[in-house]
Amino acid sequence: MNMAAQQIAAVEAFEQDVLSGLSASRKTLPCKYLYDEAGSRIFERICELEDYYLTRTEAAIFAEQLDNIAARLGEDVVLIEPGAGNCEKAEPLLQRLVSPSGYLPMDISPEILLAARARIQRSLPDLEVVPAVGDFTSALIWQRLPATSGRKVVFFPGSTIGNFTPDAASELLQLFAARLRPGDGLLLGADLVKDSIVLERAYHDSEHVTEAFNKNLLHRINRELDGSFNVDNFAHRAFYHSRRQRVEMHLVSLAQQNVNVCGRTFLFEEGETIHTENSHKYTLTGLQALLNSTGFAPRQYWTDNQQHYAILYAEIH
Ligand code: AVI
Repeated sequence: MNMAAQQIAAVEAFEQDVLSGLSASRKTLPCKYLYDEAGSRIFERICELEDYYLTRTEAAIFAEQLDNIAARLGEDVVLIEPGAGNCEKAEPLLQRLVSPSGYLPMDISPEILLAARARIQRSLPDLEVVPAVGDFTSALIWQRLPATSGRKVVFFPGSTIGNFTPDAASELLQLFAARLRPGDGLLLGADLVKDSIVLERAYHDSEHVTEAFNKNLLHRINRELDGSFNVDNFAHRAFYHSRRQRVEMHLVSLAQQNVNVCGRTFLFEEGETIHTENSHKYTLTGLQALLNSTGFAPRQYWTDNQQHYAILYAEIH
């Protein structure tokens, strides 16, 4: 498929997902649509917030443990990174690994991948960097990965695993495992269960950046799908559901109102919500069980001293 055809297919998928999500008895929208260009920029601001502890905690664990992590991964590794974005998390790891054999970053944005490849090749000129453009949750992109001789390690930081339901997370890890052989690895970053006040502050930050991130989805629908959302008629809500071990993000209708999208009308009752994201939190035991049930044997983990966040290394049985 050429670029224009890909863009048309992407708009059609967005339209279908939005129409079916808004038609459901509990309105919902897939969280992947939060990341258009504007949403991705807002997300970068979230990562810098004092209230959003995830990014800096993961970065601190990496900074402190990089030598140990690199030693654990071993020599001649081919690092595969689903959802690599600008590859800035992989770069210091690649620099620390002993003679890495290759780096295969995957992302939906070809521009970001190509810019990242050029940057990495300047600092690691001998490393083979082969970007793959596409959706890492689809088997297609995994089938297209080049055959490589080194040991493979899938690098999946950022607690992105938390944005999948436990069943979907399990399917995703099985998808990764299907491309790996015994002894190949997975380096996973995941947010841990903790005090609900800390969790809720991270997703309802005092600077209202997460609110802007959530509401951008409505602006995006207005822009791309001829939507008529009055964004001020919706409020951002984020709360920790302790039984489900997840932070849920919603947009709450502040009045009874009709909204048009792609020529269809949707009625919102006052107080009705659109569920826009789940961010699942794990215990260390829960993460180890998830890994074990998807073909990975947990080998080692590293956390911060408050046990807010964990990086785990596991290998295929
Ligand atoms: C990308 N992902 C791990 C973020 C999270 O924490 O679940 C997305 C996010 N949503 C609101 N704030 C950050």
